[in-house]
Amino acid sequence: MAKVTVGPMPYISVMPTVLVGANVKGKPNYMTAAWATVACMAPPMVCVALNKTRYTVKGIEENKTFSLNVPSLKQVVETDHCGLVSGTQVDKSAVFRSTYGKLKTAPLAEECPVNIECRLFKSVDCGSHLLYIGEVVEIHADKSCLTEGKPDIAKINPIVYAQATYFGVGKQVEKAFSVGKKYPK
Ligand SMILES: Cc1cc2nc3c(=O)[nH]c(=O)nc-3n(C[C@H](O)[C@H](O)[C@H](O)COP(=O)(O)O)c2cc1C
Repeated sequence: MAKVTVGPMPYISVMPTVLVGANVKGKPNYMTAAWATVACMAPPMVCVALNKTRYTVKGIEENKTFSLNVPSLKQVVETDHCGLVSGTQVDKSAVFRSTYGKLKTAPLAEECPVNIECRLFKSVDCGSHLLYIGEVVEIHADKSCLTEGKPDIAKINPIVYAQATYFGVGKQVEKAFSVGKKYPK
C-alpha cells in the first residue's frame, strides 16, 4: 500500500445517522447527528458530539436528558431536514410525532423504528464540540424490526453516513467474533 498523509481531521470511515431529541423550553427539537457511538457496556452508555452552537445543546443542559432516535431510510428527507435547519430559527417540533418514555423530558420520535432514552451522565468539553455521554435508561423498538427480541438492522434499514452522503446498509458478509477463527495458528 502506498500511503500519503491527508492531514488530521475527525475521521471515521462510516457513521450512523441518528436524530438527537431534546426538549427545549418545553418543546421537542430534533437534530441530525452522525458523530454518535457506544460509550460503555455496563452501565449501558452511548455518546454524541454536538457543536456548542446547536439549539439541542440548550435542551440537554436544561433537562439533563436526551434521546437518540434511529431513523430508517424511509425518513431520510425528514432526517436531512433536521440537519439543515436549527431550532433557533425553525420550529422542528412537528417533524416527528413525539412520545415520552421513562424520562419525561426526552422526546422520542414515533416514526423512527428505534428510540434510545438517555439520562445525561457527563459532558466533555472537547473544543468546538461537547461530547454528551448518556446512560441508556430504555430502548423502544418497533415490533416489526425485531428478530429474537433484538433490533435487527435488516428490518430497521438505518441510514449510514459517510462523505456527506447517505448510504443504505449492505449485505452481511461474515460473522463477527467467528471468521477470525480461520486465522492460521
Ligand atoms: C448528516 C448530518 C450529520 C450531522 N452530524 C452532526 C453531529 O454529529 N454533530 C453536530 O453538532 N451537528 C451535526 N450536524 C449538523 C446539525 O444537525 C445541524 O446544525 C442542525 O441544524 C442543528 O439543529 P439544532 O440547532 O436545532 O440543534 C449534522 C447534520 C447532518 C445533515
